[in-house]
Amino acid sequence: MDLLLDAARHARDNARPDYSGFRVGAAIEDSDGNIYPGCNIESASYGLTICAERAALFAAIAHGAQTFRRIVVVADSKGEPTPPCGACRQVMFDFCGPGLEVILADLKGATKIFRLAQLFPEPFHAGLFRTPR
Ligand code: THU
Repeated sequence: MDLLLDAARHARDNARPDYSGFRVGAAIEDSDGNIYPGCNIESASYGLTICAERAALFAAIAHGAQTFRRIVVVADSKGEPTPPCGACRQVMFDFCGPGLEVILADLKGATKIFRLAQLFPEPFHAGLFRTPR
């Protein structure tokens, strides 16, 4: 857990929130224990922005990871830790499934832990699952 949290914190330092100023870091762990970081990267064409969660997941897939245990998301949320957006919930469901552990952390170390099924209870899946699980 400490390694995963550290990776997410370091990724947050590399974020490019050039328009919102809101830095987010993530790190996803695959079933073999490999860790892949991601950060939010914003475009001048705002809609092209990618969230930290999807950046981490897509990097993991590009490196050959196929099945996933958990993801940590770190942001400087005042109050409650920042939950993933709806688009990221769908994509995490697509590639990680409902059992993914989603750990939300703020900069002070407060954490909240969910299963993806709690955050995304009625997913669109068209009867298809892309990953073996
Ligand atoms: N963002 C993330 O990277 N992850 C989240 O869970 C919530 C939002 C990013 C998108 C955008 O770059 C910035 O935070 C402000 O919305």
